[in-house]
Amino acid sequence: MQIFTGKAALIAHLSSIKTTNSTIGFVPTMGALHQGHLSLMQQSLQENSKTVISIFVNPTQFNNPEDLLKYPRTLDKDIEKISSLSTEIIVYAPTVHDIYEGKILSQDFDFDGLEHQMEGKFRPGHFNGVGTIVKRLFEIVTPTKAYFGEKDFQQLQIVKKMVAKTKLPVQVVGCEIYREKNGLAMSSRNERLTEDERNKAALIYETLLTTKDQFTKNSAKEISDWVQKTFEKNDTFELEYFQIAEVATLLPCIRKNKNKKYRAFIAVFVNNIRLIDTISLN
Ligand code: PAJ
Repeated sequence: MQIFTGKAALIAHLSSIKTTNSTIGFVPTMGALHQGHLSLMQQSLQENSKTVISIFVNPTQFNNPEDLLKYPRTLDKDIEKISSLSTEIIVYAPTVHDIYEGKILSQDFDFDGLEHQMEGKFRPGHFNGVGTIVKRLFEIVTPTKAYFGEKDFQQLQIVKKMVAKTKLPVQVVGCEIYREKNGLAMSSRNERLTEDERNKAALIYETLLTTKDQFTKNSAKEISDWVQKTFEKNDTFELEYFQIAEVATLLPCIRKNKNKKYRAFIAVFVNNIRLIDTISLN
């Protein structure tokens, strides 16, 4: 497996292996890899002649300095996991300097309002940071297809919007959420949960499943009120937001329209650890 820490060597290598018909699949990550990340890599391996993975904890997308500091960094283990999948994968694990060259700043993006909903409300500057790093990585890796998890559905929509606006020649592919046996969406942050918290966190997906079940019968407002109450009664979790939103715009669903697609989105805290999840409703 080839591992690059500098963009110049990676760019040179990629141009040396490019042929007229070759395709590059790309999976950007922040490391602390789990089965969710690996499922994206598997899809890329199946669909492309070369797969590139980036591992980079991007400072500009963390609105909370403590979260950035505590974000798990497990490069050796990550490399082991990747090589158990395939030794053909190319890994790009840059330094902060290789990406930001001394100016750790975000570009300002206009995502047509997608950035003002949900995560955008609670994590100021987060999506400018995501847009900045993903655009920079796309320019370095020049992928044919790039794979993103639906777990971060708002991020997926934001990246699609960025690609449409910048006209970068990359196809953005959304991939299904990979879950623990109890339904908890896999996340690098799950590492910080105790076993008891992990078990109790099944409530998050259970809430989404009930929402899906109720969506045909009840209004978004009725469901949201029920979710608020459920979490008010619970000592382990603190609900940050629950929103039923239209997929294309991510605007809250006020009145259901049968021609539109909706999803439910949730963010909760367990002991200062922030977990998010989402489900398609129709
Ligand atoms: P990270 O949280 O490491 O996630 C990398 C990719 O894996 C994202 O596209 C995310 O949606 C996907 N992913 C995470 N958990 C998943 C799960 N349980 N099932 C399926 N896919 C899952 O998202 C980021 O990093 C960063 O914001 C990044 C895009 C790399 C930019 O820094």
